[in-house]
Amino acid sequence: MCGIVGYIGKRDAVPVLLKGLKTLEYRGYDSAGIAVLSGGKLSLRKRQGKLSVLDASLRSDPLQGLLGIGHTRWATHGLPNEKNAHPHLDCSGKISVVHNGIVENFGTLKTQLIQQGHTFRSQTDTEVISHLIECYDEGDLVQAVRRALKEIEGTYAIVVLHKNHPDQILGARKGSPLVVGVGGGEQFLASDVLAFFTYTKKVLYLDDGEIVTLRKNRIAIQNFRGKPVHRNFHRIEWNVSLAEKGGFPHYMLKEIHEQPQAIHRTLAGRLEEEKLSLSFEKKLSSSLLKRIRRVIFFSCGTAWHASLIGKYLFERVAQLPSEVDISSEFRYRHPIVAKDTLAIPISQSGETADTLASLREAKEKGAKVLSICNVVGSTIARESDTVLYTHAGPEIAVPSTKAYTSQLTALYLLSVYLGRLRGALGAKEERAYLKELASLPRRLEEVIKDRHIQEVARECGKRYHTAANFLFLGRGVNFPSALEGALKLKELSYIHAEGYGAGEMKHGPIALINEKLPVVCIAPRSETYDKMASNIQEVRARRGIILSVATKGDPAIAKYSDHVFYIPEVSELFSPILVVVPLQLLAYHLAIESGCNVDQPRNLAKSVTVE
Ligand code: F6R
Repeated sequence: MCGIVGYIGKRDAVPVLLKGLKTLEYRGYDSAGIAVLSGGKLSLRKRQGKLSVLDASLRSDPLQGLLGIGHTRWATHGLPNEKNAHPHLDCSGKISVVHNGIVENFGTLKTQLIQQGHTFRSQTDTEVISHLIECYDEGDLVQAVRRALKEIEGTYAIVVLHKNHPDQILGARKGSPLVVGVGGGEQFLASDVLAFFTYTKKVLYLDDGEIVTLRKNRIAIQNFRGKPVHRNFHRIEWNVSLAEKGGFPHYMLKEIHEQPQAIHRTLAGRLEEEKLSLSFEKKLSSSLLKRIRRVIFFSCGTAWHASLIGKYLFERVAQLPSEVDISSEFRYRHPIVAKDTLAIPISQSGETADTLASLREAKEKGAKVLSICNVVGSTIARESDTVLYTHAGPEIAVPSTKAYTSQLTALYLLSVYLGRLRGALGAKEERAYLKELASLPRRLEEVIKDRHIQEVARECGKRYHTAANFLFLGRGVNFPSALEGALKLKELSYIHAEGYGAGEMKHGPIALINEKLPVVCIAPRSETYDKMASNIQEVRARRGIILSVATKGDPAIAKYSDHVFYIPEVSELFSPILVVVPLQLLAYHLAIESGCNVDQPRNLAKSVTVE
């Protein structure tokens, strides 16, 4: 939710800021703005709409400076218009602030500030920050920011530029991400390393409650009490091509195609020659993990679907009783969490506010926390006792694809590891699982390159993009696949879609079926194949349009289906990782046919850092 950037150095700041914002547009894209400082003058430019609007304005009427800040917005307080776009100034116009997060007590603060004579230009919560800094501005910017932040309740990452301090930019965080990029004679600040990793791969992750001062050749971090903090650098391992479209028309399509490499990276070093070697940091030793009696997964959206599949895996493979919560529900149901519980938050970004809050709740109640995250150094990763990184590489399209399949891969690894540790898996069974796991990148590649699947997806896109509704049905471990197929479809194409356990069909959704309703039936070979086949016939009998996902060589399903996506033979537990590909492609082509922006669907943001 909102992307922020800051730059100080030897380059013209505007192109650096715009390039950074472009990579952060996935975090919000309803308005954008920048402020730069040059020759004692603070210049501001803001525009409603996508970053391209701001870009065009800066091309026709350029701004210059060697330091500046920028913002791309996902509106929380105030309409997405130019006035509410960041940066926000104080009354004097000397202080400019960009912010990601929510100032929860902004109403009270704003009233007080207005009573003190401050004039507000926007309806945003952020503007109180600039005015508060102004209140405490006595020449020491760090001190002024620190005193201002003391008054703020809520979450934030901010970057501050002050006209009287042309040698520095300031950043601070509490609950929203902020990363420093360390260059030679130049420094960067951003919500995500993506914003600057083409300039430097050396990064510093800030912790909550810290303020950083960036000068061209110096970085100083201190905590909110003013105590200096020493922080070690990290090195980002990605290469630049991971963050480019690489010849694909959309990031989403590129990321769908990247899935075999992504899951290969999840497995790398952990599963070599069908041998599993997983180990976790001290806080979660194997003897501690052995004593775990219960698992709670929590996550949001697509990651929640991965968690649902995790429950099937953990109960079946590791014989560990498991439950799954949507992160936004977990805390509010006052969960009972025993000390022998393992909490597993799953999050691509590692910054999702509800998942982070659930992690804190679970930890406070005594659970051990093992998170599955993609973004290295993210808050969820850092606050967990240990983390299993998926290493899927940067996921830029808002709809999650490769992050999901790599989350599933991490869950396969973990379930086999725990199964072995707990003595729930015999050596033969373990070998069979690992063999299948090791073959997944190759099989996924086979599905992705399958021309027939691509053609069916394209054809269905053409035929059904005007449908008002879709129904997705699946059973067992592919019930969550049905939920994921429906989610992908609605977020991408804005077509209403429901995912159901096929057994539930007769308990309500069957009433929806008529000759206009496409029903996606997930029916690879499985324990419940016959039941699924009966459900397909029931849909057929009511003249529904049937799009099936079936195992290659299954002639029966085709008889009752209008279209079939054939996936290779795979055992049931591993099938979700292959099944999801046709569902991703279907959603993609339906959206393309409707002219939707697949990489940045309306109203969404990649990283939901507010509740
Ligand atoms: C859907 C999607 C979202 C995310 C959800 C969780 O395609 O991308 O539903 O899965 O917002 O995000 P993370 O995994 O970053 O916690």
